[in-house]
Amino acid sequence: MQNEQNERSISVLSKEERSYAPSAAFAKTASVPSKAARAKLSAAAARSPEKFWDAAARELHWFKPWRKTLQWKVPDAKWFVGGKTNLSYNCLDRHLDGPRRNKAALIWESEPGKVRTYTYLQLHREVCLFANALKGLGVKPGDRVAIYMPLVPEAVVAMLACARIGAVHGVVFGGFSAEALRDRLNDAGASVVVTADGGWRKGAILRLKDAVDEAVKGAPTVKAVVVLKHADNEITIDETRDHWWHRLTAKASPVCPPEKLDSEHPLFILYTSGSTGKPKGILHTTGGYMTQTAWTMKHVFDLKETDVFWCTADVGWVTGHSYLAYGPLLNGATAVMYEGAPLTPQPDRFWSMISRHSVSIFYTAPTAIRTFMRLGEEHPAKHDLSSLRLLGTVGEPINPEAWRWYKKHIGGDRCPIVDTWWQTETGAIMISPLPGATAAKPGSATLPLPGIDADVVDMTGKSVPLGSGGYLVVRRPWPSMLRTIWGDAERYRKQYWSQIPGMYFTGDGARKDKDGYLWILGRIDDVLNVSGHRLSTSEIESALVGHPFVAESAVVGRPDELHGQAVVAFVTLKGGKIPSPELKELLREFVAKAIGSIARPAEIRFTDSLPKTRSGKIMRRLLREIAAGGAVRGDVTTLEDFGILAKLQQDEE
Ligand code: WT7
Repeated sequence: MQNEQNERSISVLSKEERSYAPSAAFAKTASVPSKAARAKLSAAAARSPEKFWDAAARELHWFKPWRKTLQWKVPDAKWFVGGKTNLSYNCLDRHLDGPRRNKAALIWESEPGKVRTYTYLQLHREVCLFANALKGLGVKPGDRVAIYMPLVPEAVVAMLACARIGAVHGVVFGGFSAEALRDRLNDAGASVVVTADGGWRKGAILRLKDAVDEAVKGAPTVKAVVVLKHADNEITIDETRDHWWHRLTAKASPVCPPEKLDSEHPLFILYTSGSTGKPKGILHTTGGYMTQTAWTMKHVFDLKETDVFWCTADVGWVTGHSYLAYGPLLNGATAVMYEGAPLTPQPDRFWSMISRHSVSIFYTAPTAIRTFMRLGEEHPAKHDLSSLRLLGTVGEPINPEAWRWYKKHIGGDRCPIVDTWWQTETGAIMISPLPGATAAKPGSATLPLPGIDADVVDMTGKSVPLGSGGYLVVRRPWPSMLRTIWGDAERYRKQYWSQIPGMYFTGDGARKDKDGYLWILGRIDDVLNVSGHRLSTSEIESALVGHPFVAESAVVGRPDELHGQAVVAFVTLKGGKIPSPELKELLREFVAKAIGSIARPAEIRFTDSLPKTRSGKIMRRLLREIAAGGAVRGDVTTLEDFGILAKLQQDEE
């Protein structure tokens, strides 16, 4: 790790030495109740990971048992080979014969304050109706169905309906632009898009259907669009292609037997950013994904029958897939979902919801915690948060100050915090405390879960000694790992299994402390983490050079107290184009329109030229240092034009 930013964070992080052991009261009822119990579980799983995952898979329903737990030849893994199952059956039907039949599966609240609850029986009915509606549109097993929706129960219904009939869902976050949606529709070859007229965000309506109309113009594989009437905004309907959700389901049958699908049947594609401009379609399959998602949900969150679990992520991200939709439903839990902005109408919206719905487990991102911390503890203090018993975080390293604030002002110093490390690619949690067993250290995701062979290694793949840093890798395949990049097996092999031969390369740097705890230091590739969302620098760059005034651009991240990182774009203009504040604003909007507002640069800096090596490579490290406002240190001997450095620094204001 020569990255100076990483070195700085090492020294900051290691100042926090206090560890927080689980309280005796919490440990007493926890599924893994002590450090020794976890160590025992991990040791057994290390001796035979297959036996461990085999037992986890057996907790679920299989129409036909598997012959072989794992078939592995780098980089291709098959889990539960020969087994037949269905994820929607495991999330729904399996719970209908017992006391969970009429238990709340989903409690949804909209920004304007509407609340709807679905029991397992009701959700099952909706899923069957919609699954038949999809079949009626000609959707067959293996077909791709895009879901571009607000965070409404129907988004989960659509996912489960796809899983039920063996269609592959591709959820595209509703905040993505029409262009980003179009690219994903084309890459996946989607035949159906499920959307809504609009969704709620900060008191306004997000016009999803308009974006779909624009995207589908350039996506010839799309044959049908299903539209949920939700925000009641005016939209245009193309009678030859568009179908109202309520009309389709009104005439559909509520009987839809689940397809008996192969364990390796593709379940979903989810796009994420990599270090090139082209988003990667991460493919997950059925049996392994289901097994690890169910296990981690149950044990990382120490789930009890009476819990009310709230994961604040949107289903457009993997967290929403695994811990809003699938994880809770696989375990027969009650999940809360909220469609809207966290500070609308007031900064206490989340705390009011926790209190009104008696949320007992709350899972959110560090960026949200830092926002709440800034707004002040008077907002949570207004509400009775005593229903909470466990807190979680995910998405980026949490700074100890935010961790302690979360613990005190949200958790009432009573709730343990699980800092869970994982990725879109890993499908489910990989590194995390088990709340009744693992002493937490603020800022550390602690230890690999049982059955997960994660470690920090040097470039040759050798485990680094305690107290040092390196690359975070996973040595052995795990059930919920990605199976490929959709349509690009070669990129899959190269990106994940070749950087350090034979091991899965996460792209994160990490440090192992004296107790073997893992401290994630962030990405080492050209991927930014803004508010817990991965953005690729080159994707933003290619958006910028798509503007007719822009000659060249280089995008880097600058540390940002609130968002983790902020996007800074260095831009050179074409001859004759004059830099101006208006043009900066225009370019920021241009990126937001091309990708989505999450990618809007915090700052645009015009420059006459970019610092390059003699071979013409942009020296991003220098730009990162300049963007961070610090002096340029380290080696600049490969820089082609030294004058440019001084200029870039002068131009700062
Ligand atoms: C990247 C994955 C997995 C759900 C959300 C993000 C960073 C994730 C942590 C954590 C430190 C974390 C990593 C990782 N990350 N969780 N607990 N501590 N960093 O999914 O968009 O695929 O991003 O998020 O850098 O590689 P994603």
